[in-house]
Amino acid sequence: MNGNILEEYNAAMQQGLMDKLYFLDYCNEVHNIVDFGAADGSLIELLYNRFGNTKRYFAVDNSLEMLDILHNRFQGNPCVRVVGDMQDLPSIFGTDKTAVILSSVLHEIYSYGTDLRQFEKIIFGGGFSECPEYIFIRDMSLSRTANRPIDINDLLRLRTKANPSTLQEYTDFWGEIHSDRDMLHYLLKYRYEDNFDRENRENYFSLPYERLLEVVGNKYYFVHHEHYVLPYLRNVIYRDFGITVRDNTHVKLILRRKQ
Ligand SMILES: C[S@@+](CC[C@H](N)C(=O)[O-])C[C@H]1O[C@@H](n2cnc3c(N)ncnc32)[C@H](O)[C@@H]1O
Repeated sequence: MNGNILEEYNAAMQQGLMDKLYFLDYCNEVHNIVDFGAADGSLIELLYNRFGNTKRYFAVDNSLEMLDILHNRFQGNPCVRVVGDMQDLPSIFGTDKTAVILSSVLHEIYSYGTDLRQFEKIIFGGGFSECPEYIFIRDMSLSRTANRPIDINDLLRLRTKANPSTLQEYTDFWGEIHSDRDMLHYLLKYRYEDNFDRENRENYFSLPYERLLEVVGNKYYFVHHEHYVLPYLRNVIYRDFGITVRDNTHVKLILRRKQ
């Protein structure tokens, strides 16, 4: 990523940062906070400003560019450790009560598909005796039921109102729009015209809601469960296309390990 795109990307990620702190109250109960997919570290910085040196913070990322930014941002702060290899996490979970934040990162992990088994094992405790006390998940996730054929009227609305060039780019990459899932995938991307090439290639729905529940497994219970459509998104899609979104596109979860 070049400098400008990286800055824009991080600026976009910072929007809505406050909404991302829905789990704040539960941080009081843990000593370690792990932000998995920490990007530029904005969330960790907010948490550090809130809880200070009463906690230890771990900023995990696998992008060399982000790791560079994280090292620069937190150098000299003894409470924050930057982690480039998830293999280091089990030893952290083993020390004190830990919360792991998975904010807009699961869809990337399942999209690229590398180290999936290792990830599931480490985070959701498939094999290690210790697993985190809390896991906070906020991401895009769609039910498989959205694979139903698209309503012909919605398809017409989409074709009439969409920017022809982004729609073409989308269908060139993902194939023709046949289902509500295909339609929603485009509708979650069309606003990013300036950065469409990058956003287009990312699979936003790489982790279906049903599969997400399987991944969570039996070691955790839900303290908070929301499967929803962002109200802002619902409104702009109706404004721009006259299409009513009927499927939940996002999840916001707080999971607690069973004792
Ligand atoms: C969409 S950003 C989300 C950033 C931030 N968590 C937020 O909510 O704004 C995803 C971040 O996860 C990182 N990432 C993707 N796959 C990863 C993996 N397997 N291990 C660690 N980090 C990963 C990416 O480099 C990127 O910085």
